Amino acid sequence: MELTQTVAIRPTKHSRIQEVDFSHLEFGKYVADHMLVCDYANGTWKTPEIIPFGDLTLSPTTLALHYGQTVFEGMKAFRLEDGRINIFRIHKHYERLNRSLDRMCMATVPEDVFVEGLRQLIALDKEWVPAAPGTALYIRPFAYASEAKFGVKVSDEYKFVIFTGPVAGAFQKPLRVKVETEYVRAARGGTGAAKCGGNYGGAYYPTQKAKEAGYDQVLWTDSKENKYIEESGMMNAMFVIDGKLVTPPLSDSILDGVTRDSLLTIAGDLNIPVETRPVSIEELEKAFRHHTITEAFGAGTAAIVAPIGTIHINGIDYHLPDYTSLAVMYQLRDKLEAMRTGKETDIHNWNFVL
Ligand code: COI
Repeated sequence: MELTQTVAIRPTKHSRIQEVDFSHLEFGKYVADHMLVCDYANGTWKTPEIIPFGDLTLSPTTLALHYGQTVFEGMKAFRLEDGRINIFRIHKHYERLNRSLDRMCMATVPEDVFVEGLRQLIALDKEWVPAAPGTALYIRPFAYASEAKFGVKVSDEYKFVIFTGPVAGAFQKPLRVKVETEYVRAARGGTGAAKCGGNYGGAYYPTQKAKEAGYDQVLWTDSKENKYIEESGMMNAMFVIDGKLVTPPLSDSILDGVTRDSLLTIAGDLNIPVETRPVSIEELEKAFRHHTITEAFGAGTAAIVAPIGTIHINGIDYHLPDYTSLAVMYQLRDKLEAMRTGKETDIHNWNFVL
């Protein structure tokens, strides 16, 4: 499509980039100089503005604070080998954002506001895109119900914001995860497939309990029978069983992960057999007993792949074998990184190069 969106830009007079230690990046530590803000009222989105990153002012009656109409995305921009910048799978993230907004009864964002706004934001903060292997500029678009009126109602006003910050990959050390059969993250017909704030807030309590018991995260099971693996909260869950890459199918209680989709596609490119099908706890227990499970990992934008070393099921800690660089998850990750940093051809048209 032809992008015609006008974006009003007010650059900062004081860049904070000198304060960044690019050799010790951490997820969530640094925020780049600018942010995009765009307001929706009276049935239309106004002209997006790019302004210095700073606080938002909110009335205590702002609807999002009470009734939870708030949605976000997690995306990344990469420094290509030739120095240019690539926003990875911009259209897939855009479509998911709008699906989440729709599910939460919020105004969807026009494509030109998202794509052109993001392009200009990243172009302005281009010095913030790191180049070291495994690093990226994390992009956090989000929207919330901004109408100041505490009656219980669907908001008539929204604010859409995008800020960014340089990050390194997370979770290098194999995780200890607990299969959760008491609490659930999402139920059939609920909001599990939407990237809405409540899904994350609701996961904290069971995750804290798992942490107190010595685990890093939980592996959620389905809400009906607590028998089938769903996802791991911040990431989709993947396993290598009998040499096949196995992951639960998407449903209305599982997030349609962009990294999940990319890894499954790359597995196809590499002729690694893929099975998208329900994975029961019982199957995992058997696979551990027969040593047919060789890998378990989370897949997500922030983490890329997060190796799992231990899975706690019904009172027993099952251990995965030590991973080498030949592990399927690392082959997939390395191929993905090569494609999005320009070391290999972008055969799937995933890159949006500035
Ligand atoms: C991501 O992986 O980008 C996510 O959005 C999960 C987030 C809670 C870190």
